[in-house]
Amino acid sequence: MMYERVSSALGQRPPKISHEEMRQRQRDFCSKIDSQSVAIITNNPVSIRSRDTHHRHRFNSYLHYLTGWHGEEGVAVFHHDGDWKCRLYVQARDVEKETWTGRRPGVQGAIDHWPVDESKSRDEMEADLANILTAADSVYHIQGLDTVVDGIVAAAFDEFLDPREILDEMRVFKSTGEIALMQYAADLAALAHIEAMRECRSGMGEWQLQSIIEGCFLYHQSEWAYPSIVGSGDNATILHYNENKDPTRNGDVVLIDAGCEIDGYASDITRSFPVNGKFTEAQREIYALVLDAQMAGIEACQVGAPWGAMHKATSRVLAQGLVDLGILDCTVEEALGEEFNGPYRQFFMHGTGHLLGLDVHDVGGGRQGDNRPERTLASGMVLTVEPGLYFGAWREDIEIDPKWAGIGIRIEDDVLITEEGPVILTAKCPKQISEIEALVGSN
Ligand code: GLY
Ligand code: MN
Ligand code: MN
Repeated sequence: MMYERVSSALGQRPPKISHEEMRQRQRDFCSKIDSQSVAIITNNPVSIRSRDTHHRHRFNSYLHYLTGWHGEEGVAVFHHDGDWKCRLYVQARDVEKETWTGRRPGVQGAIDHWPVDESKSRDEMEADLANILTAADSVYHIQGLDTVVDGIVAAAFDEFLDPREILDEMRVFKSTGEIALMQYAADLAALAHIEAMRECRSGMGEWQLQSIIEGCFLYHQSEWAYPSIVGSGDNATILHYNENKDPTRNGDVVLIDAGCEIDGYASDITRSFPVNGKFTEAQREIYALVLDAQMAGIEACQVGAPWGAMHKATSRVLAQGLVDLGILDCTVEEALGEEFNGPYRQFFMHGTGHLLGLDVHDVGGGRQGDNRPERTLASGMVLTVEPGLYFGAWREDIEIDPKWAGIGIRIEDDVLITEEGPVILTAKCPKQISEIEALVGSN
C-alpha cells in the first residue's frame, strides 16, 4: 500500500523538542528583557468555520517555541520574582466540557508535563495578571490574539513592547533538535510528492493529487503546513491557487506546492511535472531553465552571503534564459532592470525564497528579493529556494507567445545553511527531468 511504502522509507520520527531546550529558550528570552518588565505570550484564537463548528486549532508559534503548549487558550507570563518565572495560565479541568471537546491537562497537568515554573487557571487570570502588571514598569505583549488578555493589558499600560523583536532573532537559528524535526518534515513531504507523481495519470483531478499528498501526511500523524497548491495547465500560473478543482488534461504540466508540519516545524516543496509523463519541447525548455536557476540559487546559499544573493543568482539565470529563448527581446541587464525589478519579473513575480521553521514563512527574514541589507546568511538558518516562471494564457496585461502559454513551473527545495555549504533537506524529492519522466505514472 502507498502509505506503507512511505512509512518504510521514512524512518524513525525524531523526538519533540526537549523541556531542557525550551527552558534554555526561556532563559535566553528573559536575559534580553528588563527585570522590571513582564512578558506575555498568548495563543492563537479559535476561529469559526461554520456556525458552531471551529477550524482545527493551531497553536501560536511563539507560545509553542517557549513552552511547547498546544492546547487552546494557554497564556505564558514571564515575570521576575527574585528570578524569572514562567507561569502558564490554562483552562481548568471541567469534566462536563471535556466530555464534549476533549481532555484538558488542567493546572496540575500543565505543571507536571510542561516546562514551566507555575501554572494557574484562566479563571484566576484577570485579577492575578492585573496584580503582576501593576508592579511592572513595562509589558511585552502581542495584541490581537487573545481579547481577554488584550483587555487586561490595556487597563494597565497604554504602550507595549514587542516580544517578537527578541524571539524572531532566536527562532532564525535552528538547533540540532529542530533540524531533525525539519528533516523529517522534509522527508515526509518529499515521499508524498513522489507518490503523487507515481499515481498521476492524465485526466486525474487536481483534488485527487492533493488527496494522495495530504493522505500521506495524515497517515504519518502530520498535516499540511499551508493549503496545498495543485494547479494544472493555466492554474499553475496562479501563485496561490488552491481550489484544486479542475481535472488535469493530457499535455499539461501540474505544479504541486505542498508541505507538512512535524511538531509545528514546516516543510515546503514544489515540483512541476507533465501529467502524461513526458514534457513537451516548450515545457522542457522552461523546466530546464527554472532548474538551472534553482541550482544557482542553492549554490548561493553560503554562510556570509548577503540576504539577497540567492535571489540575484536565480534571477540572473532566469533573465539570461528568457533572453536566449527570445521571450524577452533585450539584453540580460535590461531584462534584470534596476534593483532586479526589470521585465523578467513579468514571468517571475515572487521572491526566490523565505526562512522556514515553526511558520512556513518563518520570522526574521522576509522574502528573498526584499531589500534587507542587514541580514547575511548564517549557519543554522533554513530557507527555501523556489524560482519559477509563469506564462498564464489568461494574462491580459502581457503578450504571451502561444508556444509558452499555459506553462507554469516552480521548483522549491528547503535548504539548511552550514559552514560546509548548503544542505538540501528535501533532496529525497527528485527534480531532474529524466527522474521525473521515469516516475510519473509509474505505479
Ligand atoms: N507554499 C508557499 C510558499 O512556497 O511560499
Ligand atoms: Mn511552497
Ligand atoms: Mn515557499
